[in-house]
Amino acid sequence: MREKIVAGNWKMNCDLAEMEELLGGLKNKAESIPSDVKLMVAPSFTNLYPAFQSTKETPITVVAQNMHQNENGAFTGEVSPSMLKSVGVETVILGHSERRSIFHESDELLAEKVNTALKHDMKVIFCFGEELKDRKADKHFEVVKEQLQNGLFHIEASAWKNIVLAYEPVWAIGTGETASPEQAQEMHAEIRKMIAEAFNQEIADQVAILYGGSVKPANAKEIFAKPDVDGGLIGGASLKADDFLAIANSY
Ligand code: G3H
Repeated sequence: MREKIVAGNWKMNCDLAEMEELLGGLKNKAESIPSDVKLMVAPSFTNLYPAFQSTKETPITVVAQNMHQNENGAFTGEVSPSMLKSVGVETVILGHSERRSIFHESDELLAEKVNTALKHDMKVIFCFGEELKDRKADKHFEVVKEQLQNGLFHIEASAWKNIVLAYEPVWAIGTGETASPEQAQEMHAEIRKMIAEAFNQEIADQVAILYGGSVKPANAKEIFAKPDVDGGLIGGASLKADDFLAIANSY
């Protein structure tokens, strides 16, 4: 039985008051979502501690959107894994396409971040996905395999228990254009094959693979119904409590 996860990536949205309001809306109805669906939210760094405090008695898990690969030191503006853990955060999103493209995070840097997170016994939601030009050139499997091989496949087999994957085709992020459920299924099945080849079938069968890219209440059910899709990483639609809950209830 794989974990089912619906995670909201709030990106650089919500000041403290706005986040409290959004969290309030979620907390009120979080009990209504199926008990086997894990609800996660990823607020900005400044909102992590208040979010953690405010969700302590709820089924909501607070996760970070990023972290630095070093423990501490002269890295102005950065946040370390122990800082995250000290405010109750045990899970971090790494490799989001916005980190890769806007902040130039390479596969090699992401591999380092993964190592640091695992060393701190944190869970990693590892994001990857092809750009439109890759899909048009029929290179989407190749690009995804390269991202996984260079950023993640160096880990020990035993570390996979701390890994969740998030396949996010760049062309579907924030564009309103989603991968079809068939395209998501096809890629997720291929990813399991890649893991089985590089590690083993048991790991491939057990790792949760989320889909991200313009998931909304209207399309979540069809996407989540696919056998190799284990939930979603939701951007825009996670900023409205009712939409996000409707997505989580689509299972
Ligand atoms: O992390 C979430 C993804 O970037 C998806 O964002 O749902 O706004 O397309 P979106």
